[in-house]
Amino acid sequence: MEQSSPKAVAGIYAANLVEDGMVVGLGTGSTAYFAIKRLGERVADGLNISAIPTSEASAKLAKELAIKLIDFENISSIDITIDGADEIDNNFNMLKGGGGALLREKVVASITRRQICIVDNSKIVDKLGKFPLPVEVIPFGWPVVARQIEALGGNYQLRQRNISENYITDNGNYILDCNFYPIADAPKLEKDLKMIPGVVEVGLFIQMAHTLIVGNDDRTCTVKEHK
Ligand code: 5RP
Repeated sequence: MEQSSPKAVAGIYAANLVEDGMVVGLGTGSTAYFAIKRLGERVADGLNISAIPTSEASAKLAKELAIKLIDFENISSIDITIDGADEIDNNFNMLKGGGGALLREKVVASITRRQICIVDNSKIVDKLGKFPLPVEVIPFGWPVVARQIEALGGNYQLRQRNISENYITDNGNYILDCNFYPIADAPKLEKDLKMIPGVVEVGLFIQMAHTLIVGNDDRTCTVKEHK
C-alpha cells in the first residue's frame, strides 16, 4: 500500500503527534503499520520513546525499526496508543480484532490516556457488526462457547488460518467471528459475551477511543476528539 493511501495518511498523521519521552502503544494491522514505520523514522531522527506492542507482528516491526520496547512491569499507564479499527461508530465505539490482536489491544487500550483510532472512511458506521465480531476463546470447549453465542442470537465461524488449520492468536487461543448485525446495544452485547465461560475477550471497544483520525482520499485527515 502506498504512502499516500488514506490508511497511510492517517497513520503518519497520528505518529507525528507523539512527543519526546512518551510511552506509546503500538497497534496492529495495515493502518497501524504506517504509524509504526513513521515512528521508526522519527526514532532514527532522535525521538526518544518507549513502546508497548499489541501483537508479535508489531513487536517484530518495532524491533526492526529500533523502537525501544518496554514491559508492563515498568509502567502504569501509556500516553498514546495508535491503533486501527474494523469499524467505529458515532459514539467512538470500535469493533476490532480483524487482525486477531484484540486481547492485547484491549489490555493496552485499558491503560492508555489517549487512544487514537486511525482509519479510512470505509470504517465509519452507523451500527456496529457488519464486520464479523471477533471473540477470542480458549481452544478447550470452544463449541460450548459457540452454542452460547447462538443462544444470544448470533452465529459464528471458527476463524481458519488455512483450509486445514484453525487460526491461533498470539495468546494461543481461537477466534470465533460472530454475526450479530446490527448490534443494537454494543455495551450489553460485550457484557453478555464476556459472561460466557471460555470467552477471553470480545472485539467491542466501548468508549475507548479518544481521538479519531480519518485518512481521506485527497491525502488530508479529518480529526475528531471524543466529547
Ligand atoms: C487488529 C485490529 C486492527 O486494528 C483492525 O483489524 C484494522 O486493521 P487494518 O488497519 O488492517 O484495516 O483490530 O486486531
